[in-house]
Amino acid sequence: MTEATLTTESAVLADAATRTNTRKVFIKTYGCQMNVYDSERMGDALTSDGYQAVDTVEAADLILINTCHIREKAAEKVYSQLGRLAKLKKQRNAEGGDLMVAVAGCVAQAEGQEIIRRAPVVDVVIGPQTYHRLPQALARARQGERVVETDFPAEDKFDGLPNTSPRAIRARGVAAFLTVQEGCDKFCTFCVVPYTRGAEVSRPVDRIVQEAQRLVDAGVREITLLGQNVNAWHGKGIDGREWGLGELIRRLAEIDGLVRIRYTTSHPRDMDDSLIAAHRDLPELMPYLHLPVQSGSDAILKSMNRRHTAEEYVRLVERIRAARPDIALSGDFIVGFPGETDADFEATMDLIREVNYAAAFSFKYSIRPGTPGAGMEDQVAESVKTERLARLQALLSEQTRAFGRQCMGKTVDLLLEKPGRNTDQLIGRSPWLQPVIVDAKVGKIGDIVSVRITETDSSSLFAEPA
Ligand code: 5AD
Ligand code: SF4
Repeated sequence: MTEATLTTESAVLADAATRTNTRKVFIKTYGCQMNVYDSERMGDALTSDGYQAVDTVEAADLILINTCHIREKAAEKVYSQLGRLAKLKKQRNAEGGDLMVAVAGCVAQAEGQEIIRRAPVVDVVIGPQTYHRLPQALARARQGERVVETDFPAEDKFDGLPNTSPRAIRARGVAAFLTVQEGCDKFCTFCVVPYTRGAEVSRPVDRIVQEAQRLVDAGVREITLLGQNVNAWHGKGIDGREWGLGELIRRLAEIDGLVRIRYTTSHPRDMDDSLIAAHRDLPELMPYLHLPVQSGSDAILKSMNRRHTAEEYVRLVERIRAARPDIALSGDFIVGFPGETDADFEATMDLIREVNYAAAFSFKYSIRPGTPGAGMEDQVAESVKTERLARLQALLSEQTRAFGRQCMGKTVDLLLEKPGRNTDQLIGRSPWLQPVIVDAKVGKIGDIVSVRITETDSSSLFAEPA
């Protein structure tokens, strides 16, 4: 899974509240795309419950923080934020008003009752598997109860959530997220996800297809299928056979009007033939794959419990590139995992040179309490991690820049997604997920336009009509 550096301050619904008698919620989202999706769905549940979304803390009478646990000291950061909200609540109370605070997401799951104990400002703690119960939890909180909902219930939370209204879908744009799978059974020894998100669960085909159809009917052109381990998705297919993600994507590609499909995040072990064939056969499936490897050393991969070797990963990449030669790869890397020697690190550098990534996320290993890595001997010194990360990032940045340069002069299809910073510009995305800035005259949001890349800077590409 990936954090993908997304931190969204989301006015989850566009029709921000102005009426005075409606309850108003401000949702702050941290972490990965799955949290963005979860916040949207919690927003839907709250809309059905009479709330309207606002985009400032000041205008809200409910603040919902959707937290992420993947980074170091995540819980401590949430507690200090809650300290600030306590001051705000005090101020509100002094003015005769009130403020409710709910904590959702992976820190809520991991800390549970502890949040109630340490942060008196909090009214509701709700884990990622229980947010369909949010309206009831808030109702109980209004009666004075302090609610903790962090079990892993047997019922499907998605069944308990209202459908997103076409208006809310449109407000969120032409590229949408759709969670198809949650949780993780892989237990990489550095990672908290199996503990915070629980066991792997796949949503059924019919629900996914219905949700995708609703998105497309409301104007969505691109869907990114989400899952902590998205390519472990499996389910009973429409033909009665067991389907994997490749078959699911084939079915979704049949939806008229759905022109682009992506998925993230994948584990190398779950990249099966059918999914690779989907990359070969389906023009709707975009040529971009986030396939974390974490390390290029077999000893470290084993100790991380990644369940594959460096060689197996490289061979897999070759098979994927044989099926879809223009595919752009991105990855996640950890330096300084316990026991990582200079030779282990050099093996990671070699793997990066061999694979050649278009994009990447890289981190220094840091201990997550409760994971096996936390108890391992041979923790690597901070100074060594810093030095290794700098070298690794220099190499990866050079590869990313080379990938951008390689696009110069090429004609590519863009999905126009949103207005640019200047009113006469639009921002579109290339098939390889790069943001591309174009003159607004080339089309309107939702169009696919053919453009020629004319210029690059460090983060964006510029293009003209082809
Ligand atoms: N230390 C450093 N990086 C980590 N990641 C997950 N857990 C840790 C950790 N304990 C990274 C992995 C993962 C990405 C989302 O975050 O690279 O793929
Ligand atoms: Fe974490 Fe590994 Fe599962 Fe990804 S595959 S969520 S890194 S345990």
